[in-house]
Amino acid sequence: MSKQVVEGKIIGQGEIAPMIYKMIIKAPEVAASAHCGQFVNVYPKSKSTILPRPISISEIGEDTITLVYGVVGEGTKEFMQYETGDSVRVSTALGNGYTVQEAGVSVLVGGGIGVPPLVELAKSIKGEKIAVLGFREDPILVEALENLGVKVYIATDSGKVGFKGNVIELIKAEGIKGDYFYACGPKVMLRALSAYCEEQNVPVQVSMEERMGCGYGVCVGCVTKIKADNEKGFELKKVCKDGPVFLGSEVKWDE
Ligand SMILES: Cc1cc2nc3c(=O)[nH]c(=O)nc-3n(C[C@H](O)[C@H](O)[C@H](O)COP(=O)(O)OP(=O)(O)OC[C@H]3O[C@@H](n4cnc5c(N)ncnc54)[C@H](O)[C@@H]3O)c2cc1C
Ligand code: FES
Repeated sequence: MSKQVVEGKIIGQGEIAPMIYKMIIKAPEVAASAHCGQFVNVYPKSKSTILPRPISISEIGEDTITLVYGVVGEGTKEFMQYETGDSVRVSTALGNGYTVQEAGVSVLVGGGIGVPPLVELAKSIKGEKIAVLGFREDPILVEALENLGVKVYIATDSGKVGFKGNVIELIKAEGIKGDYFYACGPKVMLRALSAYCEEQNVPVQVSMEERMGCGYGVCVGCVTKIKADNEKGFELKKVCKDGPVFLGSEVKWDE
């Protein structure tokens, strides 16, 4: 479906952890064509924030989408003030999401504000599901994943909750094994997980996060290096259009 911008209606919004908000938007046109791992552009109303803000779709309902976002700057500060009944302009779902694979054990690895898209992903995966989630301090969406039958392991930088350390250290400490891995989170985590999966000889799909301009392939503001059989050894792909999900093994991680 080509990109459209629609007027959604907020039917719920609340803070689920310090400065992390969950917003439920009624937008049937978006929900109808959305797939796990895709994102939407959310358009701030303020004239001083020209660019839309890309936010992953955390859950897809019959005629709703749920977004979970951290408040970090002007755009998200505006979003946190919206109330039930307010309207919000959102694009239809953008990018290529996860390609769900049949596997005995699927492992979903999330870091911080990369955890939200794993909820819809967990709904789409059959078989045994394990989530390994890393946070600075406060975990989010643990119950949402557990309610879907996912066994959740938590790591925090501070050790406030769960294992003290990062998700890779936790995977190794617990001896977590899987047949297929999916991930979303900071680049440093995705790179380390891709290296680990390569060592273990298991595939991993990673959702890359780059700064974005347009969000649908026209500004070339979001390119990343993907391995290619050419002189340079890579080609530039647009995270917003060719991604955000790529195989970890196809990303050129060295810079
Ligand atoms: C495909 C995609 C999916 C995303 N999904 C989510 C999500 O589900 N939940 C969520 O909270 N955030 C998500 N983000 C990040 C989100 O888009 C930014 O946090 C948001 O645009 C910031 O807008 P702002 O106006 O509040 O802050 P700004 O004033 O624009 O920026 C504030 C700070 O955030 C940093 N920042 C802004 N955009 C990004 C980005 N794309 N990646 C890393 N750092 C950034 C800036 O460098 C700056 O330090 C996603 C980004 C992408 C590209
Ligand atoms: S953000 Fe404009 S091309 Fe990707």
